[in-house]
Amino acid sequence: MALVEDRQIENPLLEGLPIARRPEPCTMVIFGASGDLTKRKLFPALYSLAYRQMLPEKFGVLGVARTEGTDSEFRERMKAAVQEFGRDDFREDVWQELADGMHYVYDEDKLAAALRDLGERRGTTGNRIYYLAVPPAAFEEIVGWVGKHKSRKGWTRVIVEKPFGHDLQSAQDLNVLLHKHFDESQIFRIDHYLGKETVQNMLALRFANGIFEPIWNRQFIDHIQITVAETLGIEGRAEYYERAGAIRDIFQNHLLQLIALTAMEPPIDLAADSVRNEKVKVLKSIHTPGPKHVVRGQYGRGYVEGQEVPGYREEAGVDPSSMTDSTSVPASGWLAARRRSRSSSSAHRIRRSSRSPRRGCARTCC
Ligand SMILES: NC(=O)c1ccc[n+]([C@@H]2O[C@H](COP(=O)([O-])OP(=O)(O)OC[C@H]3O[C@@H](n4cnc5c(N)ncnc54)[C@H](OP(=O)(O)O)[C@@H]3O)[C@@H](O)[C@H]2O)c1
Repeated sequence: MALVEDRQIENPLLEGLPIARRPEPCTMVIFGASGDLTKRKLFPALYSLAYRQMLPEKFGVLGVARTEGTDSEFRERMKAAVQEFGRDDFREDVWQELADGMHYVYDEDKLAAALRDLGERRGTTGNRIYYLAVPPAAFEEIVGWVGKHKSRKGWTRVIVEKPFGHDLQSAQDLNVLLHKHFDESQIFRIDHYLGKETVQNMLALRFANGIFEPIWNRQFIDHIQITVAETLGIEGRAEYYERAGAIRDIFQNHLLQLIALTAMEPPIDLAADSVRNEKVKVLKSIHTPGPKHVVRGQYGRGYVEGQEVPGYREEAGVDPSSMTDSTSVPASGWLAARRRSRSSSSAHRIRRSSRSPRRGCARTCC
């Protein structure tokens, strides 16, 4: 209660208003609990939700990995991660609430029992989120396990990290595997980019803003450029990056999502399927640039904010003769680049049309 009162004092606009409805009880199972994503993104995000009282009242997190460890080691590691990577002030009382529901398992034989016990202890009524924060090679085994052990009571969600396959065939195979155990409504293919504030604001900027809405079309826009500029290099992820490259890492997920959000028609409502359907129409209507229309390259040595930074082939773990693309530019219409620059952001450049409108193309050109 003290927390609630503190928050109300912090935000006078909340005074007298009921606190927002809390989500239903659930257990979140994180596969890959000893990995980078869990410490850098997942736990800081969970802490932020706890800080804003947006987690269910009855909530538990089961961390799963093969590395041996205890519950208290897991809590200590995640506490340090939240302190290092979290966006909010660190509050011991908020952390303690979250930490009380944390449990760690490294022995597969004990996983089913641990999941059941945690659910009973926290009263999460069989609702479960399974988060696959693991390399793609581990997907099949884990999805099979979850499919076999998923709760018959309550709801199930499974969250799959990128990369979603490494080519069309492997992405289709992964879909088949997931659909063997889950309905489409239970599967979430996550793209962190869509959580960025500017990206989230795109729909409101386009469709609810009286200045932009009437002019966001081919009559007034000549073309759109989208640039992904990074201050970071590959940050120790050479093993992954050497196999993936920039196009798989950024283009087929983040940039296509940005293009779809920029060019789609207004959906009939904001339900997931309605938004998805409009995005699909955009993707179907743009031509796929062939190899001759894409320039692939690697970032070279340079300076970012006064600091000298290595080129791609000089990064730790990268083959000095690597041919992997670490930056790419489709040469026609739209532009995608992972390159180092002073600012880390994706910039939209929307160029006003100086030509008379062409007939017969989609309402918004991109
Ligand atoms: N890190 C990021 O910022 C980021 C961003 C976007 C997407 N992703 C994606 O998220 C996934 C995880 O990335 P990461 O950076 O966290 O990788 P990571 O640091 O290498 O961690 C991988 C995790 O998976 C576990 N693991 C590996 N093989 C496993 C198996 N066969 N069964 C069960 N657990 C297994 C590892 O634990 P044990 O070795 O202890 O089993 C470890 O906890 C990848 O698909 C990556 O592409 C990461």
